[in-house]
Amino acid sequence: MSHLLTIAIDGPAASGKSTVGQRVAQVLDFLYFDTGAMYRAVTLLALERGMDLADAEALGRLAAETPILIEQPADDVQDSRQYTVIVEGRDITWELRHRAVDQNVSQVARHPSVRKELRSQQRKIGEQGEVVMVGRDIGTVVMPDAPLKIYLDASPEERARRRCRDCELRGEDADYETLLDEIRERDQRDSQRPEAPLSVADDAIVLDTDGLSIDEVVRQILELVKQQGWTREEASRNHTQTAP
Ligand code: CDP
Repeated sequence: MSHLLTIAIDGPAASGKSTVGQRVAQVLDFLYFDTGAMYRAVTLLALERGMDLADAEALGRLAAETPILIEQPADDVQDSRQYTVIVEGRDITWELRHRAVDQNVSQVARHPSVRKELRSQQRKIGEQGEVVMVGRDIGTVVMPDAPLKIYLDASPEERARRRCRDCELRGEDADYETLLDEIRERDQRDSQRPEAPLSVADDAIVLDTDGLSIDEVVRQILELVKQQGWTREEASRNHTQTAP
């Protein structure tokens, strides 16, 4: 069992991982790291370049050769972003949320060549400790030693409603039935791929968030953190790990 203070949060699309993960990280003063942004970045570039999404070798090369920078938003950025994603000097933060990326990301993420590259970058970040990392395979593959693993779940209907609201807030058209179909399709692809499928780690705590507010889910996770008995001294001792 690792002594690093790390929290792994996994779960299907729109289960609330990002919002909850960021709030928990804020309260604990931990780094918040959303691994989905990396898979989305590779997908966006592949689509822009007209690449064949079945070409595992080319996509693996793209992932290996393209540094993806995920940074704190600059002070003068006034939108609701959680972080800024820069690739080749370009701010692609909002482009990562486009429907075309939603619809294609799980095809890119199924390739072991892509996963291997992104996983090694994610592990380096996890090894520094004091991180809340969210994704699909964090508790099972990326940080199997994380002392606290949460699996956030919710019904497809509830998740489609949440995604609809997100789209509306961004001023985008949203059709509930279409989003529901897309969520079901992505769940299926993510859970059935051979490499690092979406699954619940044996030692994860499953939180069913149907009908729960964000605040309630955050409260439950902070309660679990408290039960770990982590102290600030422990945190600073563990913070002297290798840099990525
Ligand atoms: O925000 P949402 O839950 O819709 O998606 P996301 O977390 O941004 O992840 C987008 C896609 O990336 C997922 O549907 C997976 O196909 C892939 N992904 C993955 O395979 N492994 C991860 N650790 C994170 C994301």
